[in-house]
Amino acid sequence: MDSVLLLLLALFSYRTGGNRLFRGSSPVGLDLDLEVDADLSAVFRRVDPRFLSVTIDASLASNEKFMLLLRSQRIRTLAKALSPAFLRFGGTKQDFMVFRPKRSQQLNADEPCSSTGLPWWLEQRLKEDWTQQKLILLKEEQQNQHNRVHFTGRPWMSARLSPSGAQSVFWLFSVSVRAHRGPAALVQQLLGPGSDLWPERAAQDHGQQLEQQQRPLSAPVLRVQTIQHVVGAGERFLQSGAEAVDACTWHHYYVNSRNTSLHDFLDPEVLDSLALKIQEVLKRVKQEAPGKPVWLGETSSAYGGGAAGLSDAFVSGFMWLDKLGLGAKLGLDVVMRQELFGSGHYQLIDDDLDPLPDYWLSLLYKRLVGPEVLKLWVVSDSGRSKRVRLYLHCANRRSYASGAVVLISMNLSRKPARISLPVLLSGSTVDAFVLQSSLPGKEGLQSRSVQLNGVLLKMVDDKTLPELSGARSPPAERVQLPAFSLGFFVFSEARAPACR
Ligand SMILES: *[C@@H]1O[C@H](CO)[C@@H](O)[C@H](O)[C@H]1NC(C)=O
Ligand SMILES: *[C@@H]1O[C@H](CO)[C@@H](O)[C@H](O)[C@H]1NC(C)=O
Repeated sequence: MDSVLLLLLALFSYRTGGNRLFRGSSPVGLDLDLEVDADLSAVFRRVDPRFLSVTIDASLASNEKFMLLLRSQRIRTLAKALSPAFLRFGGTKQDFMVFRPKRSQQLNADEPCSSTGLPWWLEQRLKEDWTQQKLILLKEEQQNQHNRVHFTGRPWMSARLSPSGAQSVFWLFSVSVRAHRGPAALVQQLLGPGSDLWPERAAQDHGQQLEQQQRPLSAPVLRVQTIQHVVGAGERFLQSGAEAVDACTWHHYYVNSRNTSLHDFLDPEVLDSLALKIQEVLKRVKQEAPGKPVWLGETSSAYGGGAAGLSDAFVSGFMWLDKLGLGAKLGLDVVMRQELFGSGHYQLIDDDLDPLPDYWLSLLYKRLVGPEVLKLWVVSDSGRSKRVRLYLHCANRRSYASGAVVLISMNLSRKPARISLPVLLSGSTVDAFVLQSSLPGKEGLQSRSVQLNGVLLKMVDDKTLPELSGARSPPAERVQLPAFSLGFFVFSEARAPACR
């Protein structure tokens, strides 16, 4: 039995007979045969409503003009659809950002949000210049020589204005306060859109907070501390001032972009490696900052900018969806995807400002998945099918009536397998949202486009996303996912007490 399933069983072994609301049965004789059981009576865990969040590549601030791209209508439309979410700067470049506010620019802060659209000619020019800038950044990355970025706050303001009034979008603004000598202190803070806290104030507050660690926070500032893998700043900070932080963050990538392969992206062992890391981090936080929420503050498939043809392709969805499923189940509160837009290959929106497959996956997740995690476990698994991966949540109440649940599933298999559904689920109408590549085979896995229930997903225009509708089917004892596909099955009539 594979480690995730083992883990699942271990985690859920305290269930009692009374908890078992339903159970599926399955015919014998198939290659892979999965029988699952679940508890719909109680919420197992609840994640932050902004669980799926995103980062903006800090490289965009390498020349502040590129931050203007965030004002493009397309990016606004795409970003708004992912709300509620946190947005923060991510990537190596973030460590080299030095905050140097300019007084004069504070005046711009009052620009009305509605009139800050980006003229098409400017968008065009910025996109062209960005292509050039990316080559420079790539060279820096390869030589591991990063220029310091002086950050005046202007991009922060343009960024702040960009989510087109989506009230629930927050910007997590990260400032590196660097002394000329001595260790750098990295402090991150969250600013709500309603706050009148501008960069100057923010920097001042940071200074004061660094001096008086315990000073009560006067503004809606959320402080998070990154846990370093090397013993160092993170750990010492937590030991001395854990009370002063609101959340602990850490970063995770499965593989190195320079030597990874298609095989890694489909390897259940690689996906399982995350479970151990999550448990390690949770254990440390429990010891050093008990009760603090744990966030993945920056995370993606492959470090070093993402792997071309993999991190930006359909196949990346397996790592992404599995991370969301596993993270929610094992104890993370927020997962911030590196990156919404930027210089890497793991972005959700490409250089032409078109959404990539992981964008559509994220959008479906936002629409369908609620913050309540439900217990689901495998009762029998004749084929040891670690290639079929399942998670269960309440369905998002903004899309479905109370009581509905959603089964998140991935089929990494080429072999036949079936999931036998528990009785309560099999009594409900099912809305299936199945994501597959438009092309077969390897080419399909590495494709930059994706189909939902057989229909290619693309924006209707700069302001309009396509309708994401499920394929409705009558109650059934099993759900079936095609090979190499990602699926959300919403059981709208499950009447789960946990989801009411
Ligand atoms: C890739 O490189 C890293 C770092 O050198 C190494 O730890 C890892 O084992 C390598 N992976 C593969 C698949 O070669
Ligand atoms: C996974 O895909 C294979 C190949 O299409 C199929 O035979 C199998 O039934 C699928 N598994 C599930 C659990 O749907």
